[in-house]
Amino acid sequence: MRKNIVAGNWKMNNDTKETKLLLKEIRKGVKKAALKNTKVIVAPSFVNLNTAVKVLGNSKIKVAAQNMNAAKNGAFTGEISADMLKSAGVKTVILGHSERRAYFGETDAILKEKVDSALEQKMKLIFCFGEELNDRKENKHFELVESQIKNALFHLPETSWKKIVLAYEPVWAIGTGETASPEQAQEMHAFIRKTVADKYTAEIADNVSILYGGSVKPTNAKEIFSKPDVDGGLIGGAALKAADFLAIIAAI
Ligand code: PGA
Repeated sequence: MRKNIVAGNWKMNNDTKETKLLLKEIRKGVKKAALKNTKVIVAPSFVNLNTAVKVLGNSKIKVAAQNMNAAKNGAFTGEISADMLKSAGVKTVILGHSERRAYFGETDAILKEKVDSALEQKMKLIFCFGEELNDRKENKHFELVESQIKNALFHLPETSWKKIVLAYEPVWAIGTGETASPEQAQEMHAFIRKTVADKYTAEIADNVSILYGGSVKPTNAKEIFSKPDVDGGLIGGAALKAADFLAIIAAI
């Protein structure tokens, strides 16, 4: 059975002190909540990953990185490898976030290399994709999403899918306050699951968690999460306040 997941993408927010404080509050709240079949993940900045791993200790909350380089090591100033992440106790990485695609030139081809490298290093990944507003206006959103998944993931063997979580994040809904309606999210998530089933098997498609991301808040989380193909959320802004993040976790 696929898992429900609530993941907090902190982006470039929180220094070390703030990281510790926020994580302690989240840890306390998650401990109190009786979570069934639900995984909680937080993705602080690179410099605070070590701190996060220490603060969270053996709690159920997992730590993810927001990015990594595909290379094993070498002359890539400012970059971080999978090995480095693993040595810091981080076994999950977010790849393909729309901000990485838009501001840092990450193409499907680059992401494919990152996916391969992460899986080679036995890491789990949260793979993000989603259309821009224009794609939706021109009714190209299904085609676009399909190509993003296909180009970066469909060369993988079936066994890799145990390590993959998908995150559908329509770019027009990220940080804008505008959310996809629960119906729009469900429609796309069902399409994604069918795309995976057609390429692989119904079982693989059924077992992959598909998260929705884009202005998820305590006020809309429950409705979005209630849709059958929405298995949780990738949360940006609302993951920076413990009370909001915990309320979103409770909504699942
Ligand atoms: P948001 O960000 O919740 O602030 O819209 C989501 C994301 O970028 O993952």
